[in-house]
Amino acid sequence: MVAEIIDGKKIAGEIRTGLKPRLAKLADAGNVAGLAAVLVGENAASQLYVKMKSKASEEMGMAHWTIQLPEDVSEARLLQEIGRLNSDPKVHGILVQQPLPSQIRVEAAVAAVSPLKDVDCFHPVNVGLMLIGRPRFAPATPSGVVELLMRSGNDPSGKHVVILGRSNIVGKPLAALLMQKAPGANATVTIAHTATKEIAAHTRRADILAAAMGSPRFLKADMVRDGAVVIDVGINRVPDPTAKGGYRTVGDVDFDAVKQKAKAISPVPGGVGPMTIAMLLSNTVSAGEIASKAAGPAPP
Ligand SMILES: NC(=O)c1ccc[n+]([C@@H]2O[C@H](COP(=O)([O-])OP(=O)(O)OC[C@H]3O[C@@H](n4cnc5c(N)ncnc54)[C@H](OP(=O)(O)O)[C@@H]3O)[C@@H](O)[C@H]2O)c1
Repeated sequence: MVAEIIDGKKIAGEIRTGLKPRLAKLADAGNVAGLAAVLVGENAASQLYVKMKSKASEEMGMAHWTIQLPEDVSEARLLQEIGRLNSDPKVHGILVQQPLPSQIRVEAAVAAVSPLKDVDCFHPVNVGLMLIGRPRFAPATPSGVVELLMRSGNDPSGKHVVILGRSNIVGKPLAALLMQKAPGANATVTIAHTATKEIAAHTRRADILAAAMGSPRFLKADMVRDGAVVIDVGINRVPDPTAKGGYRTVGDVDFDAVKQKAKAISPVPGGVGPMTIAMLLSNTVSAGEIASKAAGPAPP
């Protein structure tokens, strides 16, 4: 079997097109959805991610701002900046790009963002709402995975999903989404991590596999059962003298081998990455709608 490729770029494009009427409605009420990204330090990958999010906002006609702070910024100064964005009515969504330098507590930065502007869905209140099945915002990467599954005809309902990785950004919220008694969910979920014994014994039982480990090409063909659906969340740079710049971006899945066995597989790049951005934009539009509703009708 050679797997169908799940085209994240195309599906993300469909989601972005679906946002246009909502953006137009906001504009009719005098509002432009706006996303502010806070970037601390010079981490090249973070700079690239923020640039891609800004470019996508621009393409959608949304307002966007990047607040660049130095690597040695104090936690107090960062929280002050987040507070300023919380009270700016033009800013509907705020994201604080991770990783953050060691002098800043991630939990303090995450909790400082207003839950009504927390378009990454990292605030404990929003995580809790998601867990109990009443999400305000859907966490961008995990909900991007769910959309990839649903829109490629691979409904997780009744399926055994094995997730590799238990981070607060990907693994845990993905498990929380997939276990809900709701459309696009209803899966039986297993999470594997570094303390899991015999990982392959778990992965071989999966109908759907989601790899989010940050371990290049970890998931090999002999760990995947025939006909499984494989979603690769990983983004890893590996040295490659044949590639421009001397490195290549690969996922957590040994793509060439696994695609010979899987029913469907998402590539890296071009899989989950564009979906994360599309879901972030979608959350920002939702945040704009929440703010617009709270503000009431525009003055005549
Ligand atoms: N496409 C996107 O938009 C997007 C968005 C976010 C992240 N990512 C990518 O997704 C990957 C994961 O990101 P993350 O933020 O979740 O990473 P993370 O915080 O480093 O978490 C990695 C998780 O994988 C587990 N793990 C790592 N190596 C393992 C191994 N050999 N065996 C079993 N479990 C292992 C870790 O287990 P322990 O908990 O036991 O340490 C941890 O739970 C990265 O490549 C990242 O770049 C992509």
